[in-house]
Amino acid sequence: MPRIKFVMSSGAEHEVEAQEGTSVMQAAMDHLVPGMLAECGGYTNCATCHAYVDEAFVAKIPEPSEEERVMLDCAFHVRPNSRLACQVQVTPALEGLVVHLPVSQTEG
Ligand code: FES
Repeated sequence: MPRIKFVMSSGAEHEVEAQEGTSVMQAAMDHLVPGMLAECGGYTNCATCHAYVDEAFVAKIPEPSEEERVMLDCAFHVRPNSRLACQVQVTPALEGLVVHLPVSQTEG
C-alpha cells in the first residue's frame, strides 16, 4: 500500500498507508488525519478536502476535471498545485506522496 504523508500548516506530520483505488481524502479519513474535513463525502461539492500536492508528484496525477477546477475556485489559499484530495486516486505511483493541508483547514 502506498505511503502518504499529510503535513499540517503547523508542520505536524501524519504518515498513513493508503489503500490503492481509494482517494487521498479517504486515506486521510481512514486514519483520522486532522484537517481533512471532507464535508461532502467526496462528491466535489465542498472543497474541504483541499490539499497541496508535492511538486514531485503533480505530473503523476491526472489533470483535474472541470468540476474539480470549479470547486477549487471556491477554496481559500489556492495554489498551482492545489487539488481536491477526494478526486486524487491512490495508485502505486503515489508511493511516498506528500500533501500539505492549507492553513484554512488546520488552524482555528
Ligand atoms: S470531500 Fe467535498 S470536495 Fe472533496
